[in-house]
Amino acid sequence: MRIPLVAANWKMHKTRGEAASFVSAALPQLASAQGVEVVLCPPYTALETVGRLLSGSRVRLGAQNVHWERQGAYTGEVSAGMLADLGCAYVIVGHSERRRMFGDTDERVRRKVRAAFDAGLVPILCVGETLEERQAGQTESRVTAQVAEGTADLTAEEVGRLVVAYEPVWAIGTGQAASGEEAGRVNGVIREFLRQRFGAAADATRIQYGGSVTSRNAAEFLGQPEVDGALVGGASLDPEEFVTIVRAAGA
Ligand code: 13P
Repeated sequence: MRIPLVAANWKMHKTRGEAASFVSAALPQLASAQGVEVVLCPPYTALETVGRLLSGSRVRLGAQNVHWERQGAYTGEVSAGMLADLGCAYVIVGHSERRRMFGDTDERVRRKVRAAFDAGLVPILCVGETLEERQAGQTESRVTAQVAEGTADLTAEEVGRLVVAYEPVWAIGTGQAASGEEAGRVNGVIREFLRQRFGAAADATRIQYGGSVTSRNAAEFLGQPEVDGALVGGASLDPEEFVTIVRAAGA
């Protein structure tokens, strides 16, 4: 039985003060939600503030990106060990915004996933096709290729702990969410691929949907047997909106 995971990806939003206000408004409801795991992924600058406010609660801390090396002359980068030291349990890897704007290739994503596990973090591996790829009938092949490369260095045991987020690029920040049925179908393709490569461990892998999830459409995704939670961008910035989504995922 997979426990759904709902993660807030705040992207480049919220100062420490704004992040603290969100946590004071939402934490009681987030921490008491049953049958769902909740993760907040603030920007690096608010990780320590949010981590301190979450400590002792069931809500977990996550980062939005990580470098693949342990340390070194990489100006502006942050290692997985540094994130673990701040209390992070999760890290988003290979988000399409990073793939598109910041040079995250499949190969870099593979190394980041490895680095995350090596530091004791659980990566949330993001995959998804562009509109052009979808129109060309390449959704399954693109998503499968991203999952194959991202998991290439993992053991079956790690794959069982991995979180995959299926985020079609055309659905992110556009208000044009996929249908619940389509999200469930692609998530099923991802799980079948993982099963063929890693065996029964894939039954434990949580596969989220992300892309224009809101309090209004969350139940449509979370009701799909192959959708194990959501990675939420815009709608996660508002405490009430995010709490409603989390409740839709819970028991
Ligand atoms: P939106 O929910 O704003 O579409 O963003 C989705 C996303 O990119 C989460 O990682």
